[in-house]
Amino acid sequence: MEQKKVTVPDVLRMKAAGERITMVTAYDCPFARLLDEAGVDILLVGDSLGMVVQGQDTTLPVTLDEMIYHTRMVARGRKRALVLGDLPFGSYQTSPQQAVESAVRLVKEGGAEAVKLEGGTAMARTIEAIASIDVPVVGHVGLTPQSVHRMGGHRVQGRRSGHAPGERERVLDDARAVQAAGACAVVLECIPLDLAAEITAALAIPTIGIGAGAHCDGQVLVLHDLLGLSTDWTPRFAKRYAELGREVVRAAGAYVQEVKGGVFPTEAQAFAPRAARAG
Ligand code: KIV
Repeated sequence: MEQKKVTVPDVLRMKAAGERITMVTAYDCPFARLLDEAGVDILLVGDSLGMVVQGQDTTLPVTLDEMIYHTRMVARGRKRALVLGDLPFGSYQTSPQQAVESAVRLVKEGGAEAVKLEGGTAMARTIEAIASIDVPVVGHVGLTPQSVHRMGGHRVQGRRSGHAPGERERVLDDARAVQAAGACAVVLECIPLDLAAEITAALAIPTIGIGAGAHCDGQVLVLHDLLGLSTDWTPRFAKRYAELGREVVRAAGAYVQEVKGGVFPTEAQAFAPRAARAG
């Protein structure tokens, strides 16, 4: 039976009904198909693709054209899941007008059904502007990777102690500002679990956590972490549900051995010559 398409109102209803929301990043059509088949509610075309697909150190170099290209592939692959596209660094910070134009391109050319941007209070006018043209906006507060240079690295945000008193209140204010500006959900990245619980209780819109504990309305993982596609490092907050990186190395290594050893291809993978014509 064909499953019902996930929409933005569905995601809001899920919070009200206490149903946990699942989000996973996707960057291309084959993985979008597989994640959709697995029942993932939201496919996030994250600018994390700069790091996990392009091999860059940060998400900062990712362009809007690249985001549109990947979003289009993901939109083609999914049947049920909601497609959420990230606005990359430099495509929305200059002015609300610039943000609206970028969001329109992500929807019109990429097929996104909602867009995500990083920042709280400082981005309130921008969120309002995008929401006012009926493009659903997801906020993103706490650790915002596009602010990596200000934060001095990919660090947990909103801890009460340390050198930045008031940080916890700032993250809470940011989440409130995102909701007040008209966002339909907010990603909470790398904040203490009690702060995430406080924000989740305070907001009417769903919170989607990554490194924010179990009390959020939903969870998001980066695909490459979930599948164990990197053979080395995984962030502490992520869980590897498979070891596909090792499996790829094993399979490709077996292929190399078989070609070198003359084992592959066999007759089973070859085409027989055309039968000679009789007479
Ligand atoms: O770009 C991304 O993958 C993200 C998630 C980490 C939430 O923003």
